[in-house]
Amino acid sequence: MKHQIVITAPGHKGTLERLQNEFNAIKLWEAPDRDAALKSAASVRALAHFGHSRVDGKLMDMLPKLEIVSNFGVGVDQIDLEAAKKRKIIVTNTPDVLNDCVADCAMSLVLNTLRKFPQSQDHLRSGHWPTKGPYALTTSIGGKTLGVLGLGRIGEAIAKRALAFGMKIRYHNRNKKNVPYAYDADLVTLAKNSDVLMIVTPGGAGTAKLVNAKVLDALGPQGYVVNVARGSVVDEPVLLKYLQEKKIAGAGLDVFEHEPKVPAEFYALDNAVLYPHVASATAETRKAMGDLQVENLHLHFAGKPVKTPISA
Ligand code: NAP
Ligand code: 8YV
Repeated sequence: MKHQIVITAPGHKGTLERLQNEFNAIKLWEAPDRDAALKSAASVRALAHFGHSRVDGKLMDMLPKLEIVSNFGVGVDQIDLEAAKKRKIIVTNTPDVLNDCVADCAMSLVLNTLRKFPQSQDHLRSGHWPTKGPYALTTSIGGKTLGVLGLGRIGEAIAKRALAFGMKIRYHNRNKKNVPYAYDADLVTLAKNSDVLMIVTPGGAGTAKLVNAKVLDALGPQGYVVNVARGSVVDEPVLLKYLQEKKIAGAGLDVFEHEPKVPAEFYALDNAVLYPHVASATAETRKAMGDLQVENLHLHFAGKPVKTPISA
């Protein structure tokens, strides 16, 4: 007999197919009446979660037999971990399998933001090369200092890549690590010491608007911000203003505060490179994330420890 699960939202196609083949799945987003669907799922023990909708205490209470929330993605800022802990619900995520792809994306944002490759391509595609001449000079990567805010699994993979490009590495975490990189005990000092501030912390209340005007002032008019973490970690209106007024040199952003909505003022900026949250978006990595999400569910139903639990 297949175990019953609730799937909260549509997600990666191959993973959705596996979830529907291997479990008796209730697709919440297709239900004409969401509350009625949840009521009919009152004996469900597992939730498979995709995307940015909240998994909060209210939702957990509507599934009184819930034992596990298995998230597609390493970031779990959309899940109320305290509420889960209180109800003894296990939360799992998909760490490590996406480190390389996210780090590749982060490094591409460093390259594209400082070297303005997308903007120079626009210059060619718009036919400006023969008429207006060569594209303006940009900024070198080698010799610059990358300040990593959040030197965790992904941050370390980014640092490795940046070293290969001749960058120097510094970092700020709440806890100093045993790594061969200079540690700054506070974020303003890291920003002061960096040419490029790379944001790769978790999202959520603990990091909300960490990168604010004070931090951007410390980074200064020659400094760049790259964010592959969550839009919430940056004070987005302030960042926009600093880019418009050239109070920082530029930004490379894979994430935004209210995705998929991006304030239209960002589109007009020549000093910003914008990606639609694609850091882990390769066929191989998304499959690996989905396999881990599904494996955690199977392990739990088999009475075994899950592979990648989160502790609140
Ligand atoms: P991780 O291994 O847990 O690393 C997070 C790092 O952030 C840790 O070193 C942690 O160190 C530091 N940190 C946490 N809170 C902090 C704070 N308040 N101030 C300073 N540093 C803090 O996580 P990961 O696997 O590298 O993933 C990081 C995040 O990247 C995810 O949570 C997710 O939001 C984001 N992400 C985005 C994409 C994308 O598609 N753009 C893809 C994957 C992941 P301390 O605990 O010592 O502070
Ligand atoms: C995914 C991510 O795009 O893992 C994360 O935290 O942000 C990305 O890998 C996202 O989880 C898919 O919804």
